[in-house]
Amino acid sequence: MIPPKQVQEILDATRIEEVIEEFVSLRRRGVNLIGLCPFHGERTPSFNVNPARNIFKCFGCGKAGDAVTFLKEHENLTYPEALRWLARKYHIEIQEVERTPEQLAEMQLADSLYIVNEFALQHFQQQLFDTDEGKSVALAYFRKRGLREETIRAFGLGYAPDERDLLLRKARNTGHSPELLKKVGLCSQDGGRDFFRARVMFAIHNLSGKVAAFAGRTMSAEKTIPKYINSPETEIYVKNKILYGAFQAKKAIRQLDECLLVEGYMDVISLYQAGIENVVASSGTSLTEGQLQLIRRNTQNLKILYDGDPAGIKAALRGLDLALEQDLNVRICLLPDGHDPDSYVQEFGGEQFKKFTTENAKDFIFFKTDLLLDETKGDPIKRAGLVKDIVSSIARIPDPIKRSVYLRECSGLLQVSEQILVAEANKLIGQTLKKREEKAARQPSAASDQPAPSAPPPAWGDDPFFPPDPGAYFPPSEAGELPPEWTEKQVAQPNNEVKTAAEYQERDIVRLLIQFGSHILPQEQISVGEYILADIEESLSDFDNPLYGKVAMECHAMLLEGKTFDQHYFIQHELAEVANLAIDILAEPWEFSPNWEAMWNYPLQNQPMPERNFNLDMKQALDRFKLKKVQKMCAINLQRVQNASKEGDHDAMIRFMKIQQKLNETRNEIALRTGTVVFGK
Ligand code: UTP
Ligand code: MN
Repeated sequence: MIPPKQVQEILDATRIEEVIEEFVSLRRRGVNLIGLCPFHGERTPSFNVNPARNIFKCFGCGKAGDAVTFLKEHENLTYPEALRWLARKYHIEIQEVERTPEQLAEMQLADSLYIVNEFALQHFQQQLFDTDEGKSVALAYFRKRGLREETIRAFGLGYAPDERDLLLRKARNTGHSPELLKKVGLCSQDGGRDFFRARVMFAIHNLSGKVAAFAGRTMSAEKTIPKYINSPETEIYVKNKILYGAFQAKKAIRQLDECLLVEGYMDVISLYQAGIENVVASSGTSLTEGQLQLIRRNTQNLKILYDGDPAGIKAALRGLDLALEQDLNVRICLLPDGHDPDSYVQEFGGEQFKKFTTENAKDFIFFKTDLLLDETKGDPIKRAGLVKDIVSSIARIPDPIKRSVYLRECSGLLQVSEQILVAEANKLIGQTLKKREEKAARQPSAASDQPAPSAPPPAWGDDPFFPPDPGAYFPPSEAGELPPEWTEKQVAQPNNEVKTAAEYQERDIVRLLIQFGSHILPQEQISVGEYILADIEESLSDFDNPLYGKVAMECHAMLLEGKTFDQHYFIQHELAEVANLAIDILAEPWEFSPNWEAMWNYPLQNQPMPERNFNLDMKQALDRFKLKKVQKMCAINLQRVQNASKEGDHDAMIRFMKIQQKLNETRNEIALRTGTVVFGK
């Protein structure tokens, strides 16, 4: 177990944007960072990261949380694994407290497949570097193919000698279970022999650098032996979601804002060694949607290098319509006859490779058009089919501006009028939309990308006593760019009931407790949590909203026990409704309508963020909360006055009226402080 003090240390060191940027390409938008959501397929970014609050939220699929949540969801880690991941990243050495056997077993089970792969990797590397046979056979092979030692190590290359069960025996001797070896496909199903024998080995990493699988290449030129064999699919190796080389390439892909796609393992490795690091391989199969999404999350620009014959290329192009649907800008580059990227870069070097691919890459649509035009020369019927084929590709591009540019250009190339192409494209788009609608209608509750259409925004303005206080929030900037979900999102209870105005004051108190609970107020030298709870102690049992009341009570109880709480505590809360509330609340300022400023005529940009202004923020929230409570008491008391008057109980009436006067005074005092207009006496 990780001691609580160290947990805190790890969380304090964690910067959410640094964690998420390891997996998702983010760009700045105002105070937030945005990118394509890794949890659902999307083309316009609605995945938001808020560095000031250390949280993320996707406005498309609703996933949200802190860095720990992100790692748990994205990397399938357990809570302690996520903490260890963060500790490693921030170079914090964990002094773990002794684990129980059950904890150990659980952890080992979760990680066991990776562990056994890591063990195998070390074995293959040892066979390559530390044995005479490995050096003279396999290392010599890699050298002959132009690889340097650092490259060989960076890609986890190795050697599996021609022995029946070398790996199996070693596993037994070192306490690795043959069952697990079987599970990841490293030995035969009867557990009798190794799967990879007499092959040079390639480790296949997942995006975070763990070994998910292996490939082995024969060194023999014998045609009857399969050139490469690969690990089978397992829980940790889902082929259509892994791109070979992505772990090594992801940084360069983002920096250069381009991804090169090649076919083979050796192509990736040789290019990387030659300084072209933004390269991944599809491993000989056509691209899947999952792989394209993986690319799209890191860049919009894809350059595909082909070395095949025209027939093979034509077949490959079909699969690329999927890439257009992802709104990728696809370029194609054909290598000179007889070369694949590996052989080209080994012969001519990285600089020449860059020059060649830059000069020869052609936009996919135009490439396809040229290729097909060539084929259909002089055959009008085929020509008509070609026009349809091209337009069907263009119709898949989600960006209407891009689409219209292509249609115009292709009208020239195909010598067909632009109007005809546009009409054809619109017809296809219409059909697709209709299909989508029908599909959606058939499964109304099916998980769609978009949140369900929502009711109008919360009725802030309905309460004349409490016009919204925009100063307490900051708006999403560049409002014009906001995805539609933002404006539609509404603040609703889990049961979809719109909150009453009074609940907003309570929610604000809860927000402060969650967001700043452990922050120390400079003047008072006590925490925000202590200040607030001391201030409203008598009202704790008087919350209108039971969930908010529960959170406030729990905070109060924790303080009494000398414990502290912070946003992490709530986000990871054992009660899902509290965790969800925390994340909703922390994400809330993102969700205000971009019309906010126009509606309230309030210059939001000049407002300090609540993060920097929590002292004032807190006092205002407390005042609003108390005002609301006083308000409520006024109403109740007024009723008492009226009842007493009806019943002719003069004494009671006088007593209640005195109370009323006192309440009114308090109310006006607070109202004056908050600048709230109070109607009534
Ligand atoms: P290639 O036959 O083009 O091999 O297959 P290569 O990558 O150029 O390899 P070298 O240079 O001959 O060593 C391209 C990719 O197709 C997959 C592999 O991922 C390979 O890198 N493949 C190929 C297999 O999985 N099995 C095979 O038998 C052949
Ligand atoms: Mn090759």
